[in-house]
Amino acid sequence: MTLLKGKVALITGAARGIGRSIALKFAEEGADIAFTDLVIDEIAQNTQHELESYGVKVNAYASNAAEFDSAHQTVESIVAEFGKVDILVNNAGITKDSLIMRMTETQWDAVINVNLKSAFNFIHALAPVMVRQRGGSIINISSIVGVHGNAGQANYSASKAGMIALAKSVAKELGSRGIRANAVAPGFIITDMTAQMPDEVRKQWENGIPMRRGGTPEEIAKVCTFLASDLASYVTGQVLLVDGGMGM
Ligand code: NAI
Repeated sequence: MTLLKGKVALITGAARGIGRSIALKFAEEGADIAFTDLVIDEIAQNTQHELESYGVKVNAYASNAAEFDSAHQTVESIVAEFGKVDILVNNAGITKDSLIMRMTETQWDAVINVNLKSAFNFIHALAPVMVRQRGGSIINISSIVGVHGNAGQANYSASKAGMIALAKSVAKELGSRGIRANAVAPGFIITDMTAQMPDEVRKQWENGIPMRRGGTPEEIAKVCTFLASDLASYVTGQVLLVDGGMGM
């Protein structure tokens, strides 16, 4: 399949989980892939090898997405190596859950920096490149809790709501330059982040989903592929909930 043939995609935090699935789907559709993660360990190397099996160009970069300078240096290296970047997926994310009255400043800052500031860092570094190219697709991986809020996740929900407003603002600022920016808000997706949940908590979540099941990373990747591709050439500033109906 060739929906993304000729395009270069940069995906943050893609060694595993949803980011990895997005990278794999993009590679399957013909995109060259630059991906980042905190460290390029065996897990990241395995992801790189799997991506290469699609016959596309791939490189992995150790980069802390929360750090402004590191993000800029990473983008510089990627543009030097790949010549351009057409698609940016701001996927790197963490949780540090706590009820608001117990939440520490450290928990707040860590989640805001890794989830929200990281998206600013990469958009800030890449926007001039995309403006020069007169085109690009930016996708922020938000969350359903960024739309509805969630008890015990004030930091995470605020960071994910921020990613939505960031995408809409960038869509308004850069739309005239051919750059689109959207947010994808996954519901309950089965990954390392959610797999540690006790069975009964997981059942409770699933009972609240009209489709009565968690989603798969591939189901998020398919929607990202649509937004990244020319199929979505007139779609910008939108939030796509991919949640089995949970957020209705
Ligand atoms: P995960 O924990 O499986 O993967 C996250 C990846 O990001 C890891 O490879 C990790 O090393 C990397 N990462 C963490 N901090 C980083 C940093 N500072 N710089 C660069 N990379 C960093 O998580 P998962 O589930 O794949 O989540 C991916 C995104 O999807 C996150 O933004 C998450 O908030 C979001 N999401 C996940 C949902 C779920 O149910 N799993 C639901 C809604 C949103």
